[in-house]
Amino acid sequence: MSERTDSTTTYRRLLDPAVRANPYPIYAQVRAGGPFRIGTAPVVIVSSHADCTAMLRHPNASVDRSLTRVQLETMPMLASSATEDAVRQSKPSFLFLDPPDHTRLRRLVSKAFTPRVVAQLEPRISAIVDDTLDRVAVTGTFDVVADLAYPLPVTVICELLGVPLTDEPQLRQWSSLLARTLDPTSRTATEHQADPGELQAAGTELNAYFEDLTRRRRGNPGPDLLSQLIAAEDAGDTLSHDELISTCALLLIAGHETTVNLISNAILALLRHPGHLAALRADPEQAAGVIEETLRYDPPVQMIPRIAAAAMRIGDMDIDRGDLVLMLIAAAHRDPAVFTDPDRFDPTRDNRHLAFGLGAHFCLGAPLARLEGRVAVTRFAQRVRSPGCAIDPPPYRAHVNLRGPAAIPLDFAEITPRQ
Ligand code: HEM
Repeated sequence: MSERTDSTTTYRRLLDPAVRANPYPIYAQVRAGGPFRIGTAPVVIVSSHADCTAMLRHPNASVDRSLTRVQLETMPMLASSATEDAVRQSKPSFLFLDPPDHTRLRRLVSKAFTPRVVAQLEPRISAIVDDTLDRVAVTGTFDVVADLAYPLPVTVICELLGVPLTDEPQLRQWSSLLARTLDPTSRTATEHQADPGELQAAGTELNAYFEDLTRRRRGNPGPDLLSQLIAAEDAGDTLSHDELISTCALLLIAGHETTVNLISNAILALLRHPGHLAALRADPEQAAGVIEETLRYDPPVQMIPRIAAAAMRIGDMDIDRGDLVLMLIAAAHRDPAVFTDPDRFDPTRDNRHLAFGLGAHFCLGAPLARLEGRVAVTRFAQRVRSPGCAIDPPPYRAHVNLRGPAAIPLDFAEITPRQ
């Protein structure tokens, strides 16, 4: 078999929906083989911890999608024209901008979205989780994804931004559609493939929604993040109107399905490791270790893309200007060169995961995601008695990058009252 067929076959196996529940054995094979190019396409996959780290830190690694040489016509299995169109129709958010625009926008948002602002959300996050568990206690049925993991992040970010409660269901729908724009392999996720018109409409409607909300907040500012970003806009020409709108959309979309997967994956890991669940119930301080280990062991984002702004070398692979480099961080997280016994779920290990990226684009929402994750697993451990997975492995969504269970139906004895 030719080298080209080999690498294309490997890539197809990575994308195969049949491996979504456990892609890690294939990741191990990919990592052992070193970086590879998909056939003759301008696409390279790197998967060791050293190669992913080198790429994330490389000065020529760009996030500007206009630099890619990937031809959608010749690589239909890679890129989704639907998502590309949805991205292009609005001004790119700073996730897709290089310096100096990235630096300026990120600094502005960081000022309003500080770790202190996030820490103050803890009582509210606990209340949302407790309300959820109270409802489950009444209905007697519990799907961890639909009942807990899915609604929590979107409720929190909507409240933070100042989106009225009544608009939340609509925002949820747009967000879950547009999350596909973050998946460089979304074309392959056929069961979940949105039609291009639907995606474009969601992008347009979300922008229009934030245009309208901005207008209302401008006349009547509140304590919310959007009002603070408007104040930053009004204070000078540092944040243009378009940038304000694309930043709101980014905060909604980047923090939604990612955090859903974190909570789902963490609870799934605890259900499969009852000893760690019991330890967490006895000592809530263990929650941080559980969340960090979940971020390594089963990361909500499996790969991070970059485009080579100039030729470079990563490991023993020559990368050309315009190549798309996919960093398979979920494979890097099981790299035995960095992690002892990497396939073991061990919340006590010293963790050097790349789940939130590294460097200039390091996840701005990491403190919020960690807080939501810690509160969710702690309240779950404390209040849900004798929980067990009704179906293991659970069904998975088809997404390759934002990978997570579609549902985790739960058997349980009782939900204890809140304290
Ligand atoms: C477990 C949940 C989350 C994971 C795994 C995650 C993962 C990531 C990753 C890997 C990046 C870097 C992408 C790159 O380098 O190209 C990133 C960037 C970002 N994330 Fe998160 N994220 C999570 C939750 C959140 C939340 C809750 C928010 C906000 C509400 C958020 C907002 C952002 C923003 C604004 C960026 C862009 C940063 C920049 O370009 O400078 N994320 N995230």
